[in-house]
Amino acid sequence: MGPHLTRRAFCGALAGAAGLASLPVRAGSPAPLTARVTSAQIAPSTYPATEVWAYDGQLPGPVLRVPQGGRVSRRLVNELPVPTSVHWHGIRIDNAMDGVAGLTQDAVPPGETFDYDFVVPDAGTYWYHAHTNSFEQVARGLAGALIVEEAEAPDIDRDEVLLLDDWLIDPADGQFMLPFGHMMSLSHGGRLGNVIGSNGTIDLSRPARSNERLRLRLINGSNARIFVLKLDGLTGWTVALDGMPLPAPEAVTATLVLAPAQRIDLIVDVTASPGETAGLLRLDDNNLWRAQVRVPVQGAAASARREAPKALPPNPRMEPPGVQDARQLEMAMQGGAMGRMASARFNGTPHGFRDLAQRGQFWALDGQVGLGDAPFATLDRGETVTLRLTNETAFPHAMHLHGMHFRHVSGDGSLGPLRDTILSLPGEPLEIAFTADNPGKWLFHCHMLGHAASGMTTWIEVA
Ligand code: C2O
Ligand code: CU
Repeated sequence: MGPHLTRRAFCGALAGAAGLASLPVRAGSPAPLTARVTSAQIAPSTYPATEVWAYDGQLPGPVLRVPQGGRVSRRLVNELPVPTSVHWHGIRIDNAMDGVAGLTQDAVPPGETFDYDFVVPDAGTYWYHAHTNSFEQVARGLAGALIVEEAEAPDIDRDEVLLLDDWLIDPADGQFMLPFGHMMSLSHGGRLGNVIGSNGTIDLSRPARSNERLRLRLINGSNARIFVLKLDGLTGWTVALDGMPLPAPEAVTATLVLAPAQRIDLIVDVTASPGETAGLLRLDDNNLWRAQVRVPVQGAAASARREAPKALPPNPRMEPPGVQDARQLEMAMQGGAMGRMASARFNGTPHGFRDLAQRGQFWALDGQVGLGDAPFATLDRGETVTLRLTNETAFPHAMHLHGMHFRHVSGDGSLGPLRDTILSLPGEPLEIAFTADNPGKWLFHCHMLGHAASGMTTWIEVA
């Protein structure tokens, strides 16, 4: 991935041509996005390349950039040996374009195509990934960044998309460890990789100059890893979460937690001196800080730092929902190893935990394993609801709602920022609130993808 055009240069170029407002509507067939088998050097170079599944043969897939309010028009071309579909994570999207095989569309068979065409109402950092057997297809590489550009760009020198990921590689042959749905990982913390990297490589380096100001768009594309991160030689502010701008930038003073599927947009100043190496560090499994992304500092962009950044412009429909009279929904999160789930409904009938385990199912949401025929809840369009989750399991879960963003409701009733994925910790109640303003059938599931595949998935319907 080369350095991007700065936003200013980008706008300048457009102003000289057509201008953002009058971009032509694409005619004819949309540009292809081809899911296919290829190989990539994920493991260190002493190992052979790994066979991966990737969009346009790139790991991760190409960064798709589109102006806010514009359209994404892409023809998924399935050159994989299996059916697939694409989900546009975090986009408040038309339901028919949400890409959930079995709920919003049929999976696209090998050799066939599906045209995705939708408007992107919100600026920010989003991503796209397979939503057919995601626990396998995302782990094999089917994911990429979707960036929706603000009409009015922040004042930065460079924009870096950093898709953090891990891969579980068999050291014997350098290929993905099989099976993807290993019982042990399904029933525990999920598939954790033994190789960790960014943008498809284990030693990503993005050189910068002292006092340069960068926008870092962090995306957690891993199946199950909760990244704990900190800045080194960089001073920064969080400006958006899960695509949605914060009302004011928040100085990064502590570690950053990035659960699967979450995004954090940072604006950082390079405060290390020329010759030093700054970067993004992650806490490894032995509690040591390691370089996740190295930023070697070469020369100086300016002799002094700039003023603190301004907030990003707000997206539409960001008003906090009135939660006073909201309907209250409750959902227990159940199952897994060391859980206390005795039984749950599966395929219409109750099953004991051992019986479920033999079928590769370990988790339930409110007594239901996987999608039932009926939604967990049917909401009126425009209705505000709160959803109280109780995590009765022994594991953290990254709970994701499709189609709408929500806010965390804290104990004193105050509302957190808009998010589409939130980390639930064992034993801790968690309450979210949202306005059901997007009609359709929407998944609510754990984004530890093995958990989702083994029961921790449900759906709601907005009438
Ligand atoms: Cu990132 Cu159900 O998806
Ligand atoms: Cu989970």
